[in-house]
Amino acid sequence: MINEDLRLLEDQISACRLCQLGENRNRAVPGSGPAPARMMLVGEAPGREEDQSGQPFVGRGGRLLDVALQQAGLNRSEIFITSVIKCRPPNNRKPMKKEMASCLPYLQAQMEIVRPKIVCLMGNTAAAAVLGRQGIQSLRGQLWQERFAVTYHPAAVLRNRNLMAEFVSDLERLNSLQDQ
Ligand code: URA
Repeated sequence: MINEDLRLLEDQISACRLCQLGENRNRAVPGSGPAPARMMLVGEAPGREEDQSGQPFVGRGGRLLDVALQQAGLNRSEIFITSVIKCRPPNNRKPMKKEMASCLPYLQAQMEIVRPKIVCLMGNTAAAAVLGRQGIQSLRGQLWQERFAVTYHPAAVLRNRNLMAEFVSDLERLNSLQDQ
């Protein structure tokens, strides 16, 4: 059963000790959303509020993401939302290569269970982890391996509100692609 598989994976992530981030977390943040889902969004790593709640994108970045999804005509409850790293790095530092290597199999397992038609990689960490490439500007606007799209991370849009229109238009395009 798909949801049972997802629950088992979540239990595994919540008890994970594959890297040092497991030592200082309050809660792991496996992800949220239905399985199957047509769309998956992948961020970088949980922040403080996500670490407290165990839920992805519930802090400032999450609130901006909610607004962008709504403007793009997307319903958050129909999307599977997660991050490359499932535990909060201290002081929100960038995840290390070895932490990404430990955590990536969980994202791959989630993709197998959720079977999204479109996986939207938000930010360079997600693009690098999944596609092995960085550079949002050059990666935006097309589908990679027929299912991966790249856009800004919500935190980047919080830092530069001028990016909001492009962020929303990327999500709008994915909204139409997931229906095709
Ligand atoms: N940023 C992320 O990349 N993921 C979260 O869950 C929250 C903030």
